[in-house]
Amino acid sequence: MSFVCFFLSTQGRWHHHHTKQKHHTPHHKTSEISAAPFPAPEPSSPLAPEPLSPFTPEHSGPSSDGNADNSTGAFNVRNFGAVGDGVTDDTKAFKMAWDSACQFNSSVLHVPSGFSFVIQSTIFTGPCQGGLVFQVDGTLMPPDGPDVWLENNSKRQWLVFYRIDGLSLQGSGLIDGRGQKWWDLPCKPHKGINRTTLPGPCDSPIAIRFFMSSNLTVQGLTVKDSPQFHFRFDGCRNVHVESLHITAPALSPNTDGIHIENTNGVEIYNSVISNGDDCVSIGSGCYDVDIKNLTCGPGHGISIGSLGNHNSRACVSNITVRDSVIKASDNGVRIKTWQGGSGAVSGITFINIHMENVRNPIIIDQFYCLVKGCTNLTSAVYVSDILYESIKGTYDIRSPPMHFACSDSVPCTNITLSDIELLPAKGDMVLDPFCWNVYGDMETLTIPPVSCLMEGIPRTILDNKDMGYCG
Ligand SMILES: *[C@@H]1O[C@H](CO)[C@@H](O)[C@H](O)[C@H]1NC(C)=O
Ligand SMILES: *[C@@H]1O[C@H](CO)[C@@H](O)[C@H](O)[C@H]1NC(C)=O
Ligand SMILES: *[C@@H]1O[C@H](CO)[C@@H](O)[C@H](O)[C@H]1NC(C)=O
Ligand SMILES: *[C@@H]1O[C@H](CO)[C@@H](O)[C@H](O)[C@H]1NC(C)=O
Ligand SMILES: *[C@@H]1O[C@H](CO)[C@@H](O)[C@H](O)[C@H]1NC(C)=O
Ligand SMILES: *[C@@H]1O[C@H](CO)[C@@H](O)[C@H](O)[C@H]1NC(C)=O
Ligand SMILES: *[C@@H]1O[C@H](CO)[C@@H](O)[C@H](O)[C@H]1NC(C)=O
Ligand SMILES: *[C@@H]1O[C@H](CO)[C@@H](O)[C@H](O)[C@H]1NC(C)=O
Ligand SMILES: *[C@@H]1O[C@H](CO)[C@@H](O)[C@H](O)[C@H]1NC(C)=O
Repeated sequence: MSFVCFFLSTQGRWHHHHTKQKHHTPHHKTSEISAAPFPAPEPSSPLAPEPLSPFTPEHSGPSSDGNADNSTGAFNVRNFGAVGDGVTDDTKAFKMAWDSACQFNSSVLHVPSGFSFVIQSTIFTGPCQGGLVFQVDGTLMPPDGPDVWLENNSKRQWLVFYRIDGLSLQGSGLIDGRGQKWWDLPCKPHKGINRTTLPGPCDSPIAIRFFMSSNLTVQGLTVKDSPQFHFRFDGCRNVHVESLHITAPALSPNTDGIHIENTNGVEIYNSVISNGDDCVSIGSGCYDVDIKNLTCGPGHGISIGSLGNHNSRACVSNITVRDSVIKASDNGVRIKTWQGGSGAVSGITFINIHMENVRNPIIIDQFYCLVKGCTNLTSAVYVSDILYESIKGTYDIRSPPMHFACSDSVPCTNITLSDIELLPAKGDMVLDPFCWNVYGDMETLTIPPVSCLMEGIPRTILDNKDMGYCG
């Protein structure tokens, strides 16, 4: 119904501004409109999804915009009233464009280049017809900072795609999260008076969140300066990420590039990510994840975890990270778990990864803790079947290049090292990789040498059938 209202209230305006339009007269009968705000698409007609005027005034003539607008079923947000001057709140227009595009198979919601659209925190909800394309060639921005965020909007998320099967978010445009004012909140590390960290509201929005959705593609975009994570996928299935460029300053807090959680069937390819936190972070409930050809850094590297917080069960399996570069980062490839958790991390392969000046290029930390007074507990997320193959390059000598800290009661098992060559970026080689309670094999000699891997599987694991239970 909101369509019809918009249609009626703006009819005059559109016709006023688009006098060149010939095939729609200002004397549309209201009855026609309310009966069918859009023509039902004929399955056989490629042009069927084009909505009625006034939403498509530019369709009638040659499009100044060149592409996409004359492609099948394009819904240009400007035709729904979006202004794109970098100031006007265009949320309503985007919602309407979404609601229309959502109704048709293979339609394109188009955000044209040459414009900057400001939209509030918005949930784009499905289900939609399949094959929906959200084509961003212009710039999308949220309101600038917490002071101008609408009171009744969530401060934890900005653009949310919810319950959608078959969506491609793509284009050559820019998504600018305008994070600075959020990073400067007094609650953020060292941002209070005299570089203290003060209590107070700290929620900051994830730029782009996909929730309970499937068959997703995200491709081509530049995304920068998110207030918090740039992308988060949770409860999703079949996700393909390709050719993204994600940037935020090295000191921006919590600005993970891509975070996945309870999500499976994920491909993350050919992307460049530099930020202030993890390049990619993989949370509980993820499996069948393939990561290839990423360039990460500065940042905190590629991370599985943290897992098992608040004694939770966490399960992550079948993750491959290959053919990637990690540079100027606090960590390279990391697995981090809290004391007291349960579940398992298994079947993880890190292969052909080039490190440049990385602290902790290879690290397993089962004593992960962000608060004071963490105690050692008897249960832990079980880490097993981890392969590190062809991990080469340089490290920052402030930390050992390999660090395996496994919990006392639940050792890490079947950790395989093959073709590891890590040299100091500057200074003297750190000869002692850190090892605690770790079992596994070296398939080749490593640089630096590692002599602390224990053989076989320890009794504590063999005797405890429930260890690493993930069913
Ligand atoms: C749009 O139309 C122009 C001119 O008719 C054509 O050259 C162009 O290929 C079309 N673009 C698409 C995406 O169909
Ligand atoms: C949508 O279009 C695709 C390809 O054109 C087709 O395979 C699919 O059946 C269509 N889905 C619906 C619901 O019409
Ligand atoms: C949120 O606030 C805006 C402006 O303050 C208001 O227009 C809108 O109706 C509110 N929405 C809800 C769901 O309360
Ligand atoms: C901040 O530091 C300055 C200089 O040390 C001191 O004079 C001032 O009282 C401090 N402010 C607060 C709020 O702690
Ligand atoms: C996703 O795509 C696959 C393969 O095209 C299809 O079988 C499946 O039904 C789609 N939807 C979901 C929810 O998986
Ligand atoms: C790797 O990704 C970069 C973009 O970051 C791309 O230019 C390059 O072609 C990709 N390499 C391969 C082998 O796909
Ligand atoms: C592991 O994940 C890949 C996709 O990344 C999939 O092709 C493969 O079948 C999975 N392996 C197992 C054992 O499930
Ligand atoms: C936890 O255990 C590790 C390994 O035994 C030990 O180094 C560390 O000091 C312990 N931490 C606490 C808080 O007891
Ligand atoms: C050890 O882990 C590798 C993967 O790194 C796996 O292929 C192999 O089956 C595991 N071995 C055992 C005995 O589980």
